[in-house]
Amino acid sequence: MQANFDFQAWTAARLLTVEQALERWVPAQAPAGLGDAMRYAVLDGGKRLRPLLVLAAREAVAQSVPDAALDEAALRAACAVELIHAYSLVHDDMPCMDNDVLRRGKPTVHVKFGEAAALLAGDALQALAFELLTPDDTSIPVAVQLRLCQRLARASGHAGMAGGQAIDLASVGVALNEAQLRQMHRLKTGALLEGSVLLGADCALQPAAAWPALQTYAQALGIAFQVVDDVLDVVSDAATLGKTVGKDAANDKPTFVSIMGLERSRAYAQELLAQALQALDQSGLTRTAALRALAHMVVNRNN
Ligand code: IPE
Ligand code: IPE
Ligand code: MG
Ligand code: MG
Ligand code: MG
Repeated sequence: MQANFDFQAWTAARLLTVEQALERWVPAQAPAGLGDAMRYAVLDGGKRLRPLLVLAAREAVAQSVPDAALDEAALRAACAVELIHAYSLVHDDMPCMDNDVLRRGKPTVHVKFGEAAALLAGDALQALAFELLTPDDTSIPVAVQLRLCQRLARASGHAGMAGGQAIDLASVGVALNEAQLRQMHRLKTGALLEGSVLLGADCALQPAAAWPALQTYAQALGIAFQVVDDVLDVVSDAATLGKTVGKDAANDKPTFVSIMGLERSRAYAQELLAQALQALDQSGLTRTAALRALAHMVVNRNN
């Protein structure tokens, strides 16, 4: 077990590394201002929860012998998943989807650069994510690159985030039941969060024995994240959140709050937190302090 684990110091060090890597890897030079829109979408903003989950999971399964290639793989995976997330936000905010004007405390990408540029910036960020996972040199074992690409593609595509967004858009004004809502959240948000944890666990030479426990942890966390997002949309304010509030009700979206009410939604998030922590307790892993702290952060956050 990790006595005296300092989550703040842990987070600060990793955020710095991730921020520097994104700064390096998201190009300013791209035709006709595309790079400016890409960098605007990714840099300086966001909690970077997904990269932190990748790095925390990697550390939980890491062998005691240092392995620079797998460290590099984990950093690339951390940035790749953030690029997919950033692209999903750019498209989510567009007029054809949620029609939002504020994101991460700034005007949304389509407001600042126009709709066509926003669409292309999202497309290019998605492609860049997979480029990061497949560097030209062979520093990362090819089998690991393959696993990471497969994992990220599945988490973000039709059976993951994009599929969930499709359900979201098809559900405007529709009275989903709790199971249908959970399925929507599992895909649109949960898949990428689960993917983040499993990407971290993929950065190992052998599959981790704790795999099923990590998956249980990640699935509970994934749903909890969107339950809290739905709650914050009702109870928070734009200055704290950095995005417009009250828009789920305005857009007639089914959410946990609209179906269960505020108090039951909050209680459900706490239940999911307990499930996530219990899965870690039963995982047999000893270096789980960061994963535990991140779960607390997801459920008890105010932005
Ligand atoms: C917001 O995600 C979008 C959802 C998936 C609900 P985050 O709350 O992680 O957004 P950033 O990255 O911190 O801006
Ligand atoms: C967005 O969910 C999820 C993805 C971007 C995949 P929301 O539409 O609830 O996210 P916010 O509230 O705009 O951040
Ligand atoms: Mg949306
Ligand atoms: Mg939205
Ligand atoms: Mg939301």
